[in-house]
Amino acid sequence: MKMKIFTMPEEMQAWATAQKAAGRTIGLCPTMGALHEGHMTLMRAAKEASDIVIASVFVNPTQFAPGEDYEKYPRQFREDCEKLAREGVDAVFHPEPAAMYPAGFGTYVTPDCAETQVLEGARRPIHFRGVATVVTKLMNITRADRAFFGQKDAQQVAVVRRCVEDLNLPVQVTMVPICREESGLARSSRNAYLRPAERKAATVLSRSLRKAETAFTAGERSAERLVALVQEELAGEPLARVDYVALRTFPGLQPVTEVRETCLLALAVFIGTTRLIDNVILEGEA
Ligand code: PAF
Repeated sequence: MKMKIFTMPEEMQAWATAQKAAGRTIGLCPTMGALHEGHMTLMRAAKEASDIVIASVFVNPTQFAPGEDYEKYPRQFREDCEKLAREGVDAVFHPEPAAMYPAGFGTYVTPDCAETQVLEGARRPIHFRGVATVVTKLMNITRADRAFFGQKDAQQVAVVRRCVEDLNLPVQVTMVPICREESGLARSSRNAYLRPAERKAATVLSRSLRKAETAFTAGERSAERLVALVQEELAGEPLARVDYVALRTFPGLQPVTEVRETCLLALAVFIGTTRLIDNVILEGEA
């Protein structure tokens, strides 16, 4: 089947509805484009679990605050389509902002829960309202049975799961492991902003997390000490400016002192002017 491209929500929804009527299950991979190998791991997971894969490519304005990188976010739709076609994606949804947020738009999904108050939510106050709104719309437009998200944005996965549960959306959410370069750097569309020296410096993020993970595997359970190990390693990189390092339960994102259940060790670090995030999940014994 030749990959279909839809720009209008009604047309996308009509096609998806016809697929469902024919008894096919739909896997949705929401993206903002500038696709890399990490996105392809989402497509492959979706393909394995669904009859039809729909990728959305939409730089969602409502999840960017003024002064963030909405305007400069990389856009390369033609290359994205070539990559998606090679992966055997069935349809791409690529709307204009005005098609998603027409004049008079006024209904937002505002998750008001522990998952949105901390980490990224504490620094980017409107971010998760924008994410929850667009993801809910995308799920409805594509009639998705399953939706696939990367672990790099683990908090986003926690928030989406909360929305799906709270709003009784009939969608199963799957988190796909972080895809890393050989250097350990987590793949991200924002890596495109990094100059060569910064790209090298950015490997400190994964290195610092690995250090804590190794200590955890060796038996360290103190959240304070695990966080300190990460901070110590980050402090050794002159180009890195730490925004936060935090250890919380996952997916509830509650504070912890001892890692006895599944937890998220997450960080946000500026390398030059580029803000990068990364994380590792520590599987507790509970
Ligand atoms: O993770 C992203 O790329 C975005 O937050 C998403 C899920 C596509 C919503 O715009």
